[in-house]
Order: sequence, then C-alpha cells, then structure tokens
Amino acid sequence: MCAKQIRKTTSRAKAPVQTTGHIWDGVEELNNPLPRWWVWVLYLTIIWGIGYTIAYPAWPLLTGATQGILGPQERAAVAAEIARFDAANATIKAALTAAPLESIPADDALKAYAIPAGASVFKNNCAQCHGAGAAGVQGKGYPNLLDNDWLWGGDMESIHTTIAHGIRNTADSDARYSEMPKFGADGLLEPAQIAQVVEHVLAISGQEHDAALASAGATVFLENCAACHTEAGTGDRAQGAPNLTDAIWLYGGDRATITETVTNARFGVMPAWAGKLSEDEVRAVATYVHSLGGGEGAPAP
Ligand code: HEC
Ligand code: HEC
Repeated sequence: MCAKQIRKTTSRAKAPVQTTGHIWDGVEELNNPLPRWWVWVLYLTIIWGIGYTIAYPAWPLLTGATQGILGPQERAAVAAEIARFDAANATIKAALTAAPLESIPADDALKAYAIPAGASVFKNNCAQCHGAGAAGVQGKGYPNLLDNDWLWGGDMESIHTTIAHGIRNTADSDARYSEMPKFGADGLLEPAQIAQVVEHVLAISGQEHDAALASAGATVFLENCAACHTEAGTGDRAQGAPNLTDAIWLYGGDRATITETVTNARFGVMPAWAGKLSEDEVRAVATYVHSLGGGEGAPAP
C-alpha cells in the first residue's frame, strides 16, 4: 500500500460517518456518500439521454413517434442505398426477364448477375426444404438439386416451370401434377403382389433381392407401374415419376420404405413461386439451380 492510500484511509476513518438513524437489532445503517465520479457519470448519462431523445426518433405518439431534430436519417439512408442498388440492377434484371430462357446459361453477363442473385433467393426461400447446399433431404421427398437426376426435367424451361408453378399445390392451377395410386391402402394390389413388386424394384435398382418373388413382381410391375415409371423402371419426367433403377431415392430404397411407398403412395408438394417472387427472381434462382451441376440443354424439338 502506498503512503497516500494509507493517509486517505486513516483520514476517512477519522471522519465521523453519518448514520441514517435506522437501527436493526443494534446494527446501524451508515450513510456514506456515493463516490463523486459515480454521481457525475449518472448525471452525464441523464443529460445524454435527454439530448438523444431530442436528436433522434424517441417518444411514442399516437401514431409513430417524435422524429427528432436530426430526423430518422439512418432508415432513409438504407432506403436510398437499396434504391441505388435497384436502379443499378434494373437494366440487367430487365435483360434477364427478356432473354429466351435457354439462352441464359450461355450468356456470361446474365449469368454473372443471375447466379449470385439466385443463390440468395435460394437461401431465403428454398433452403428450408432443399437444404442450404441444395442437396435435398433424403427420406423426406425433398430432391437433391445438385445431380442430373430430374423428376420433372433439368433444362432451363423445365426448371423454370417447376419453380414458377410448383408441384401438387392447390394454389396454382398450372402446378405440375401427378398422383401415384395407393396400391395397398386402396386394395388395388394384394399384400402378396406388393411383396413381389417390391422385390422387383429391389432387383432393378441393383440391390439384394429374392429372385423368385422378383420375377413374379416383374409382371405386377408391367401391369401396374410401367405406365408411369416405364417398363424398364427408368421413370417418366412428363409425370414426375422417378427413375427406380438408380441409387437415388426421394423417400428411400430399402425394402420397408418401398413397401410403404407402394402401399400408401407419396404426395410431394412444392409451393408455386410465381406470385411470391418477381419474374427476374424466378429466373435467377432457376439459373442458379441449373448451374449446380445437373443443368441440361434444351431438349431436341
Ligand atoms: C415446402 C418445401 C419446398 C420448398 C420451400 C421448395 N421446394 Fe422445391 N421441391 C419440393 C418437393 C417436395 C419437391 C419434389 C416434388 C415431387 O415429388 O415431385 C421439389 C422439387 C423441386 C424441383 C424439381 C426437381 C426435379 O428433380 O425435377 C426443383 C427444380 C425445385 N424443387 C426447386 C425449388 C426452388 C428453386 C425453390 C425456392 C424458390 C424450392 N424448390 C422451394 C419442396 C419444396
Ligand atoms: C400414376 C403414375 C404412377 C403409377 C401407376 C405408379 N407410380 Fe410410383 N411414383 C409415381 C410418382 C409421381 C412418384 C413420386 C411421388 C412423389 O414424389 O410424391 C412415385 C414414386 C414411387 C416410388 C418412390 C421412389 C423414391 O425415389 O423414393 C416408388 C418406389 C414407386 N413409385 C414405385 C411404384 C410401383 C412399384 C408402382 C406399381 C405398383 C408404382 N410406383 C406405380 C407415379 C406412379
């Protein structure tokens, strides 16, 4: 302890401390003054607080709040900044909206705008179902958008249609639609036939299977499934019927999951985006999805 502190302590000790006059069970309440620096900080914060409410929007009124003599300039500045960006992007957005869809992936200037803009649309609107990296959610029916395995088609036109109108929703009359029958629940197939056709699906997808059941299942498949999934089981994009011969599954490729799919069917729904996103946003996110790895050229006419 330095000499100064000792002196201070002793002089404090000498000064008689006032009491508040309160005594509880013989314990007196002392009335020490607040430290001066603390009191000054308190006064300063009060003055600062009053000044702030004069300078900035603060006091609530019936509608809104006092504007403050400096005005709500931060909000206005943000709005101006957004307007400046919108104006700067207006030309490229108009070009994106006007371009023939299939020409966009070959146009470097449009792509340079559309891919990052589409990525941010994706993050805000699509990632909750398709995953932040667009890899989908296996087993839940949210398809992986990174591969070249398409339910409804992977050219710009098809992707754009899927996004704009959605799939099996009731809000858009142009939504893509198809419905696999509930073969078990609606009694279209006997449980034994379901067991057979499931073995056939295991067989054509290259998995371990019971050969005798599977060969009986081939007939069941031909009669009940081929109309949508094709005879070979490779799927039909016109109906959104998935390819059953690859190792890519929406809901799952094990025996139990396929049995569940055939028994109760599935009904994957995607909302329509045409009303919620502007056309340039739909095109930007379509270009982004097309660029992820599975994008295809326009189909031959
Ligand atoms: C509520 C969940 C949900 C949201 C949100 C969603 N999707 Fe989907 N999406 C689905 C489902 C489910 C399917 C598969 C439907 C089916 O079985 O045919 C799908 C399918 C697709 C397909 C078709 C893939 C193919 O193989 O043909 C594309 C493309 C797609 N979504 C893009 C998007 C984009 C882009 C967005 C955001 C603007 C988005 N989705 C938002 C649920 C969603
Ligand atoms: C009317 C057309 C139609 C018929 C008939 C049909 N399917 Fe489907 N199937 C679909 C569609 C569409 C889907 C995708 C459903 C979805 O995503 O909601 C599907 C999905 C599946 C799946 C899920 C694939 C995956 O990736 O998880 C399997 C397995 C399947 N079908 C097997 C069959 C079998 C076996 C039959 C015959 C007993 C059959 N389907 C008959 C249209 C059909």
